[in-house]
Amino acid sequence: MPKVTILPANVTADVEPGELLIEAGEKAGVEMEAGCFNCSCGTCVIEVVQGMAHLEEPTPEELDVLDQWNRDPEKYRLTCCVRVKSGEVVLRQVH
Ligand code: FES
Repeated sequence: MPKVTILPANVTADVEPGELLIEAGEKAGVEMEAGCFNCSCGTCVIEVVQGMAHLEEPTPEELDVLDQWNRDPEKYRLTCCVRVKSGEVVLRQVH
C-alpha cells in the first residue's frame, strides 16, 4: 500500500493506489491548501521531496500551471490532480 508523508508536520498516511495527493494529505490529518480542485489555479502546489517516480506523470494542463508559477515539475506537483501509484512519497508544504 502506498504511503504518503507530509512535511513539515511529519505525518504519514497509508493510501490506496490511485488516491490523489490532496486526499492523502487530508487522510494524514493535514490541512491541504487548494482552490479550484481542477488542476488550473496552482494553489495546491507542493514540493516532492522523495518518491516522484511513484506519482502519475504530469498532464499538459498541470505542466502549464506549474510553468505559470515558475515551479519545476521535477520538484513540484499539484496535489489536486496527481495520483499516487505505489511506494513511499514524501511531500513538503510550501505555503
Ligand atoms: S487546487 Fe487549483 S490547481 Fe489544485
